[in-house]
Amino acid sequence: MKILVLHGPNLNLLGMREPEVYGSVTMDEINAKLIELGKSLGTEVKCQQSNHEGMLIDALQEARTWADGIVFNPGGYTHTSVALRDAIAALKIPVIEVHLSNVYAREEFRSRSLISAVCKGKISGLGWKSYALALRALAE
Ligand code: DQA
Repeated sequence: MKILVLHGPNLNLLGMREPEVYGSVTMDEINAKLIELGKSLGTEVKCQQSNHEGMLIDALQEARTWADGIVFNPGGYTHTSVALRDAIAALKIPVIEVHLSNVYAREEFRSRSLISAVCKGKISGLGWKSYALALRALAE
């Protein structure tokens, strides 16, 4: 089994960016943990990040050719992007939406996701473990 872990905009700054909201773990550390977890689950994990909406769409489309599932943190695009929603809707493989922070406990605009309705599920508020639980769910 092969899983794509896809990080959206500003997540490359994890560790430095608002640590009181997003924690002190860096994106590279999260990726390393997920690759290790994947090994223990017999799953190959490939991690990508982009700050650009079009690049994220390209990654989602390419995943059709090789991935069995996707763990996706769309960052701020969660709340705005019809194009990312359409890209997910076009996929046959399951996508789990993840967020480090609890988007429902923050500004009201973060409660709205254009992505959730076309995802298999959503995990929010558990820090880097949001990704780990999504990976485990896809692998199992
Ligand atoms: C986030 C939540 C979004 O609202 C925000 O724009 C992010 C990160 C999270 O992981 O908590 O960039 O997706």
